[in-house]
Amino acid sequence: MSSVATEPNAYASYLIQQDWNAYTPEQHAIWRELVSRRMPQLEQHASAEYLNGFHQIGLQPTELPDLAAVSRRLQPVTGWQSTPVSGFLPADAFFAMLSARLFPTTIWIRSRDAMEYTPEPDIFHDVFGHVPMHAHPVFADFLQHYGQLCASLTQPDDLERLGRLFWFTVEFGVIRERGQLKVYGSGLISSHGECTHVVTGGAEIRDFNLDEVLNTTVNVSEMQPVLYAIESFEQIYEAAKQAASRLS
Ligand SMILES: [Fe+2]
Repeated sequence: MSSVATEPNAYASYLIQQDWNAYTPEQHAIWRELVSRRMPQLEQHASAEYLNGFHQIGLQPTELPDLAAVSRRLQPVTGWQSTPVSGFLPADAFFAMLSARLFPTTIWIRSRDAMEYTPEPDIFHDVFGHVPMHAHPVFADFLQHYGQLCASLTQPDDLERLGRLFWFTVEFGVIRERGQLKVYGSGLISSHGECTHVVTGGAEIRDFNLDEVLNTTVNVSEMQPVLYAIESFEQIYEAAKQAASRLS
């Protein structure tokens, strides 16, 4: 590992303002419809920590989130902020932001003809899907630690392996809560199709194992055939700490 700068100039050029008043009634209506489609399934199948976070950060089912208001509620809890960015970030900027407890957040919302899937993340995926978990203290520490570790890496192989840890936790994470499988990854929270696939038994659920996760190739264009269930969020924080010892 070598040290890589994580100072603000690694990401400053990607930061933008969210002009909340510029959203149209139609865009608020799309958010409303997306939330109302997802909530019945999530009330049954989402991690309690996700549902707690949703209320804690003040998300409204009726209108698009004002990221400054979300951050005002989130920051006193875990130090995280939901920070507007211009779009897809290069890896060094992305990891520098995670290291600073800033979650890079897109501000555009999908159109009505792409309600189920967008190739690039939008505000629904980023805020509805990701940000509620950032109110959980252990998940919050895990995500910052993950960013710091990745920011220190230079080998593409190492970054690819660490990318799998992100994929099987932050994006497609599942957890056993009181003996029941619950979803907490944004790719499952924000997608009805992906979540249905998992909660109806379409994916094989294995116990979380760091080495297996680091060695499992990801195919982003298919429903996930295998997912890794954790028992607690401490488990992935510990895994992120141990991951450095598994790299070249
Ligand atoms: Fe995501």
